[in-house]
Amino acid sequence: MFSTPFVLSFALLLSLPLLFLLAPRILPPRNVPISLPDELDDLALFRRAALASTSPPPPTPTPKIAFLFLTNSDITFAPLWERFFHGQNHLYNIYIHADPTARLSPATGVFKGRFIAGKRTQRASPTLISAARRLLAAALLDDPANAFFALLSQHCVPLHSFRFVYHTLFASDLSRSSHYPKYRSFIEILNGEPGLWERYIARGDDVMLPEVPFSEFRVGSQFFVLTRRHALVVIRDRRLWRKFRLPCRKAESCYPEEHYFPTLLSMEDPKGCTHFTLTRVNWTGSTGGHPHTYVPPEITPELIGSLRKSNSTYSFLFARKFAAACLEPLMKIADSVIFRD
Ligand SMILES: *[C@@H]1O[C@H](CO)[C@@H](O)[C@H](O)[C@H]1NC(C)=O
Ligand SMILES: *[C@@H]1O[C@H](CO)[C@@H](O)[C@H](O)[C@H]1NC(C)=O
Repeated sequence: MFSTPFVLSFALLLSLPLLFLLAPRILPPRNVPISLPDELDDLALFRRAALASTSPPPPTPTPKIAFLFLTNSDITFAPLWERFFHGQNHLYNIYIHADPTARLSPATGVFKGRFIAGKRTQRASPTLISAARRLLAAALLDDPANAFFALLSQHCVPLHSFRFVYHTLFASDLSRSSHYPKYRSFIEILNGEPGLWERYIARGDDVMLPEVPFSEFRVGSQFFVLTRRHALVVIRDRRLWRKFRLPCRKAESCYPEEHYFPTLLSMEDPKGCTHFTLTRVNWTGSTGGHPHTYVPPEITPELIGSLRKSNSTYSFLFARKFAAACLEPLMKIADSVIFRD
């Protein structure tokens, strides 16, 4: 006969490996570490991209927009984007960073062969910053004609035609010189938002000092459109990255990807940024840090109209988030509403 304590400890022993197996599914998933080899690998990529860009790119008659898709699944609205890009061959490039653990269907059409070397990513962790920087570096290296860099997720949809997007971005030139244009970055940069202090001290009380005093700490949407000049600022940075890569002690206040880019660009070139984003998101009734996710019955021409409206002089160009089932109703109004402007 086995004694009860023996059976108990045996059962406990058996359950230990099970606990390790299940823990990542139970615990808040904020712990994908950035290993030293990954960090060095990134650094080498950023160095190469920075070196290749030491002289300004020759003025090009047809500057391009680099569309950077940061995903951990298939690009949900690929057919809609396909239609968006149709016929614009020389005006854009696409780059995709997919989490290597994601099970993806083979990419087709404009997305085929557009993947860059991806590494593990996790929401609300510095891995999202690294992934965005990898996309920027890959796009900088790939084509000197890339003048704007638009970061999007698999849940994003366009709200206007490609022509409209292209003209909006390139009309932001402040220089009045066709040879050396000075575009602005469309990135949300906010100060004095509620909860900012909690986010600032999420890694520990004084750890952000002296590089990032609280007075310089900013928040903004993770999705932005950066100029080439600012993309370079981002991949050259090592000072702020050393701070923002630190793990959080307070998981509920940890969204480094919403702070790193706005803080860095607000410190480096506040006048060169619009301080607002072109990607519409509906935070009304948000749950667990997720914005409102639109479902098929909500997809109407009126919705597209109201999503475009912004408080700035610019119309929103992209929006998130939409349930995958919205693809069909969105395709139905693509030509008659979304791409008609
Ligand atoms: C934003 O989401 C709320 C539900 O959370 C919805 O009632 C509202 O209509 C949405 N706003 C827009 C502009 O779609
Ligand atoms: C515009 O500003 C008002 C007042 O600050 C705000 O309630 C509203 O949500 C803003 N709209 C958008 C689309 O950002």
